[in-house]
Amino acid sequence: MFGKRTEIGDNGAARPKKAQSAPALTPKAPPSVPALHQNAPSAAPAMLQTETKKSEEYYITKSVIFGALIEAIDLAQLSKLDPENAREEIRDIVNEIISIKNVVMSISEQEELLDDICNDVLGYGPLEPLLARDDIADIMVNGALKTYIEVGGKIQLTNIRFRDNAQLMNICQRIVSQIGRRVDDSSPICDARLLDGSRVNVIAPPLAIDGPALTIRKFKKDKLTLDQLVKFGAISPEGSEVLKIIGRVRCNVLISGGTGSGKTTLLNCLTNYIDHDERVITCEDAAELQLQQDHVVRLETRPPNLEGQGAVTMRDLVRNCLRMRPERIIVGEVRGPEAFDLLQAMNTGHDGSMGTLHSNSPREALGRLESMITMGGFSLPAKTIRDMIVSSIDIVIQAARLRDGSRRITHITEVLGMEGDVVTMQDLFIYEILGEDSNGKIIGRHRSTGIGRPRFWERARYYGEDERLAAALDASLVETE
Ligand SMILES: Nc1ncnc2c1ncn2[C@@H]1O[C@H](COP(=O)(O)OP(=O)(O)O)[C@@H](O)[C@H]1O
Ligand SMILES: [Mg+2]
Repeated sequence: MFGKRTEIGDNGAARPKKAQSAPALTPKAPPSVPALHQNAPSAAPAMLQTETKKSEEYYITKSVIFGALIEAIDLAQLSKLDPENAREEIRDIVNEIISIKNVVMSISEQEELLDDICNDVLGYGPLEPLLARDDIADIMVNGALKTYIEVGGKIQLTNIRFRDNAQLMNICQRIVSQIGRRVDDSSPICDARLLDGSRVNVIAPPLAIDGPALTIRKFKKDKLTLDQLVKFGAISPEGSEVLKIIGRVRCNVLISGGTGSGKTTLLNCLTNYIDHDERVITCEDAAELQLQQDHVVRLETRPPNLEGQGAVTMRDLVRNCLRMRPERIIVGEVRGPEAFDLLQAMNTGHDGSMGTLHSNSPREALGRLESMITMGGFSLPAKTIRDMIVSSIDIVIQAARLRDGSRRITHITEVLGMEGDVVTMQDLFIYEILGEDSNGKIIGRHRSTGIGRPRFWERARYYGEDERLAAALDASLVETE
C-alpha cells in the first residue's frame, strides 16, 4: 500500500505526430502550452489542436535558425566562453539570422527561442526548464521521448522530449564530465552530481534497452523543517515535540522508509535539535544534509576513477570518523557493511548517532541491519548481531509515502530488548489511516499508543526534557480519546 506510485498524464496523445521526424532540434513547448500534460484527457480537444500546430511551427523555425547558427559559429569554441558572454554571442547571431531570413516572431517568442537554443548549446537542453523548477523532487528520463517528474508525491509524464537518444546521451555525458567521469559503452553506469547539488544517475545502452535512463533527485536548497512537516500533516504537533526531544537527548536513531519517503528530510530536521557545542561528523554518498551547527565535519564517499581505483566507501568513512573524536556520527544512508561500524560507534559513547535505511517497517529495518552485517562478511552468530542492534539503536522512525502521494511519519518506535531470539519493540506514536475522502486523499491521524514512560525517559530526564516529553505524550492521548 505504501509508496505505490500513480501515473498521471496522457501517453503523448497530444504530441505532434510529425515532430518526431521533422525538426532536428530539441522540442520545447512555446509559452502558451502548459508545461505538463496533467490530466490531459480533460482538456478540450480543439484547444490541444491549435497548441499542437503552433508548437510544430515553432520547432521548424527553431530548426532552421539552429541550423544557420551552427553554420555561423563554432559551437565547441562557444561553449568555452563563460555563460554570460556565450549567451550574448548567441543572441547577436540569432537576431541577425532572424532578420536575414525574415522570420516573423514576436519579441517574447524570440526570447523563448533564444533561451531554448542557449539551453541546447550551453546547458542541459530540454532538461533546463525542469531543473529551474523548485517544486520538482525527481526527474526521470526514460530515453529521448519520455520524461517523468515527481511533484507533490505523484509521478507525472511531461511533454519534454529530446531530439533523439544521441542528444540525450550527449547531455548525460556533459553532466557526468563535470565531475571528471565518463559514461559510454564500456562504463554504462555512472553517478554524478549537478553543480546545484542534485544527485544524478545515468545508465546507458546496452544496459538500458530503450535508450539512456537518467534520474535526477533534485537538490532542495530550502530544506523542510519539522514545523513545516507538521503543517503538511506529516506528523502531529505533539509527535514533532517527541521527535525534537529524541534529537536533542542523544537517542541513537534509525530512520526507515522507502525511496523518496522523506528519510533524508527527516534526518536533516532532527539534526536541528543537536546542541551547538557537540562535534558532529556526517558521512554521505552525496552531501545532502544541511546542518545548522558550527562544529560539523562533512564527509563524502568517492566512486572509483576511470581506472577503477581510488574508491572510498561509506565503511571507510565511518571507520575513519571514529578516529576524529566525534560526539555524534550521522550516516546519510546505511546500505552495507558500514552498518557494523555505525552500531559499534553508537555502542561506544557516540550516542545520538543517526542514519537512514531503506525499509518498510521498523521491525524490517532491524532485520535489514542484521542482514547488512551478515552479508558484509562478519561471521558473527545472529544472536550476537541482534544483541548488538538492541544495545545500540534506541528509536526507529518510519517514514512512508502513502498512495495519495502524501508523506507521513507512520511510526516512532522504541527498541526495548530481547526475548529469547526475538527483538522486542514498542510503538510510541503511530499514524492510523481512517479512510479516504472523495478526492482520494487519505484521512488519518497521529496518536500516541498510551505509553506514558518510554524507555528513553531517564535520558530525557537527564537532559531536563522529561516534562516536555510527558506533556507531548499526554496531549496526543487526550486528543484521541
Ligand atoms: N513530509 C513531507 N511532505 C512533503 N514533501 C516532503 C516531505 N518529506 C520529504 N519531502 C520531499 O520529498 C522528496 C524526497 O525526500 P527525501 O528526504 O530526499 O527522501 P528519501 O531520503 O527518503 O529518499 C524531497 O523533495 C523532499 O523535499
Ligand atoms: Mg535520501
